Amino acid sequence: MDVFEAIKGRRSVRAFRSDPVKEEDLQRILDAARLAPSAGNCQPLELVVVRDRATKQRLVRAAHGQSFIAEAPVVVVVCANIPRTSGRYGRRGEELYCIQDTAAATQNIHLAAYALGYATCWVGAFDEGIAADAIKAPAGVRPLAIVPIGKLAEEPIAPPRMPLSKIVHEDSF
Ligand SMILES: Cc1cc2nc3c(=O)[nH]c(=O)nc-3n(C[C@H](O)[C@H](O)[C@H](O)COP(=O)(O)O)c2cc1C
Repeated sequence: MDVFEAIKGRRSVRAFRSDPVKEEDLQRILDAARLAPSAGNCQPLELVVVRDRATKQRLVRAAHGQSFIAEAPVVVVVCANIPRTSGRYGRRGEELYCIQDTAAATQNIHLAAYALGYATCWVGAFDEGIAADAIKAPAGVRPLAIVPIGKLAEEPIAPPRMPLSKIVHEDSF
């Protein structure tokens, strides 16, 4: 699939069938995350692949009851290993680069999954402490996105986007 087709066609999906994610596909999706850029190539990315029912339920609790997370056969928790970046870049590494690096990896997960015929949703509204406990994150590892992956159960609608004319500025604002 062409990258533009994936960018255009991907949607947030909040209803999943129980059909499994093929292991080979999952590995390709995780590898797409691994290949994302990171500041100074520090690669703070850590990925937790959750298949365990009880752990998924803990993630639902962390995400204020977003129950569709547990419907997906696989849930990836995208984390930042802060010291990997802060060791080199200090506060900017901890407060900005870690977030940007994991966001780039998260977007790669969405696009790769879509290209392989899977649906995803970027879940960012969650209690970090509860999510960190659920995945037994060691000190210095911050869970930053929860991504359920599976086959879609309901066709999503495309939310509107602002036109380019409203967000692109020539030379300055
Ligand atoms: C940082 C971030 C956090 C998000 N958190 C949630 C969330 O907690 N729950 C949810 O259902 N969708 C969440 N979304 C998905 C957005 O609601 C969705 O991307 C937006 O409405 C546009 O829809 P689309 O993804 O289908 O284009 C999040 C997206 C981003 C980028």
